[in-house]
Amino acid sequence: MSSGMVIAIAIPVLVVLAAVVGFTSLRRRDAQGLGHLSRETRKRDAGTMAAPPVSDEARELERSVALARVSTEVAVPEPTTPEVWTPPDPEEVGVTRRQFLNRASITLMTMGLSTFGAANIAFLWPRPTAGFGSKVKIGTISSVNEVISSASPAANFSYFSEAQTYLQPYPMDAATQQAAEVVYSGSVLQGIKMGYVALWQKCPHLGCKVPSCSTSQWFECPCHGSQYNRVGEKKAGPAPRGMDRFPVIIDGDKVIIDTGSPSQGPPIGTDTTGQGLEGPHCA
Ligand code: FES
Repeated sequence: MSSGMVIAIAIPVLVVLAAVVGFTSLRRRDAQGLGHLSRETRKRDAGTMAAPPVSDEARELERSVALARVSTEVAVPEPTTPEVWTPPDPEEVGVTRRQFLNRASITLMTMGLSTFGAANIAFLWPRPTAGFGSKVKIGTISSVNEVISSASPAANFSYFSEAQTYLQPYPMDAATQQAAEVVYSGSVLQGIKMGYVALWQKCPHLGCKVPSCSTSQWFECPCHGSQYNRVGEKKAGPAPRGMDRFPVIIDGDKVIIDTGSPSQGPPIGTDTTGQGLEGPHCA
């Protein structure tokens, strides 16, 4: 290899090495950056921070202050007798959590028992003496008969709303009365013998109000189609029996319906009057 070639290779190598060294030193200076001071700055700071010379007067003053501090008496507190503990006054402390819970439990229990007792007393209290659920006076015999006879065109359907009752005339012929005696008894039969039957407006199926039908002359329930003849005996539909009824009481010349003592209607198939369909149905 000629010397010219060696020089030609060495020069670029040296240039590259010089560039690497320069780059590396720049990087290190950047890395030291903000956190490091230059040597000149550190040197200047050291010169500035050097402690100033202390004079003899200052030393003397410092010594005298130290002696005065040492010679100052330390205040020793007087010994005291510890206070005897006395339990706090409950009135001052107020209600504790336990007291609060106890009182709340007792109050709630008392209220619950009181409510239960009041409900029992109310249940045992006598029933109302007026209005539906009691004995309802609907008028005198003559006024009631007038209502019954004037109930045209829905003849034979006389309604007394205060008793929720249809007071129906019952045929007085011997055959009907005889048939009624086989089926009915007690206060209902007594009413029949006086010529009345008091039918509760409530359908024995599911409780709808049963209206009368002036064309068929039956009662026809609009809810599910149960049908009853003029004296409440079941003719058709899902009802389990005839219409329920109340005792009719004649007291002097007053007609009273005891709405507090309903009786169940007659069983399916009962037909004491033989009343057939008299026209088209309403429901
Ligand atoms: S409630 Fe009258 S038929 Fe059902």
